[in-house]
Amino acid sequence: MSTPSDPSTIDLAQARRRAKELLAAVRAGDPNAALVHPHDPPRLADAHHTIARSHGFTSWTALVRAVEPFDPVAADDIDWDRIREVSIVCLPATGIVSLYDDGGRWVIPHDQRRPSEHVWDETLLRIPLERMGFRRQGTHVFAIDRARRHVVFWVDGAPYTGNRPHRDDANVWSGPADDAAEVLRGQGDLVLADLVTRAATDQATMSYERHQQDLQRTLTGGYLRAPTLAGGSGFGGDEQDWHDAREVLTAALEGLPEDLGRPDQPISFLDLGCANGHLAASFVRWGAARGVEVEPYGLDLSPELVARAQELHPQWSDRFWVGDASLWHHPTGRRFDLAHLLLDVFPDDHQERAVRHALSLVTPGGRLLVSNYETRAEFAAERIVTSYGFDVVGRTPVRVRRQNQKPYGTPSVWIRSPPQ
Ligand SMILES: C[S@@+](CC[C@H](N)C(=O)[O-])C[C@H]1O[C@@H](n2cnc3c(N)ncnc32)[C@H](O)[C@@H]1O
Repeated sequence: MSTPSDPSTIDLAQARRRAKELLAAVRAGDPNAALVHPHDPPRLADAHHTIARSHGFTSWTALVRAVEPFDPVAADDIDWDRIREVSIVCLPATGIVSLYDDGGRWVIPHDQRRPSEHVWDETLLRIPLERMGFRRQGTHVFAIDRARRHVVFWVDGAPYTGNRPHRDDANVWSGPADDAAEVLRGQGDLVLADLVTRAATDQATMSYERHQQDLQRTLTGGYLRAPTLAGGSGFGGDEQDWHDAREVLTAALEGLPEDLGRPDQPISFLDLGCANGHLAASFVRWGAARGVEVEPYGLDLSPELVARAQELHPQWSDRFWVGDASLWHHPTGRRFDLAHLLLDVFPDDHQERAVRHALSLVTPGGRLLVSNYETRAEFAAERIVTSYGFDVVGRTPVRVRRQNQKPYGTPSVWIRSPPQ
């Protein structure tokens, strides 16, 4: 077979038309029309294969991979009902791309959308888990094919260790986006190489506003549809798993009433990014078990989730607010004895600002508890907050999952708000 044609000279729409014409000619008995390895009776796939071979490609899939053009796109400009196919560039750290080995070829996760599957909530979660055991977090669409049926996303996130169905034996390569593009070009996957480069550029240039919009699009629908209370706070597992993973956070209550000089008084707890309020409500029960009375409060970017928190906890409905945890102030300027901040929901370059702002919401002498759902040690909350110059004064234990004995991430840590 000849070497592949220069992909820039191939017009995919024309190649598709030629395949149809070829099939029609074969069916009509044209003696000049022939298919490579045809079925009996011949099919369109045989004609596609023949056209691909005539351009020097091993298969139609290889030809499409090399030439299919993708245009830039914004989420609001997509007709989501039409989407049939999804490709996902996984970025486990800024500028770092993960590829996996698919039968001797490095690829990115890709699949058809299943009937009735919600693209953002389900397809985007399923494909990276199934293909290479990667759990998406931030989810951002950036390219679409000319037929506007195949969308390409980049996601950040991490290798998955939880209980959802996922692959745990994938051969994964991770490295800088330029190196990934080089690997893909070396295989002849020019379109993929281009997509990987564009994904990394999109990540590097994304505004905070778009990050927040995409985050809401990613989380809100899934949380609202979740069948469990923990699921409504983004947690995959049952109430026992929720307890095992999150109860340890209440270690930050220990000694706090004494530190504040109010041994028998309730502690106000503000969950920044409270979703449906399940953590704030759980703190009341878990705190009581530790002998501390907790008054729960919550803030979330998503009005729908705040409404859900108010609906689930009508007795505290005036204690849940809508706002950005890195900007918000209580309407009357009140502060909270303990606040909890989840780093994962902020882009890397916004995390320090979020920590400093959250600390300003804490009562003098109180505590800011900082978590990261991230399981990798290099992203542990302790590393991140100490890199900003804060002294960590306490850390939570980490329990292991009942199902596979793997730890629930890394410790959450607390820092102290300076006493007045
Ligand atoms: C994984 S849930 C956390 C639930 C609970 N706090 C916990 O730690 O288990 C993350 C929540 O943070 C919210 N969120 C993301 N960015 C935020 C921001 N900048 N300010 C406030 N809430 C935010 C999301 O809407 C989502 O409901």
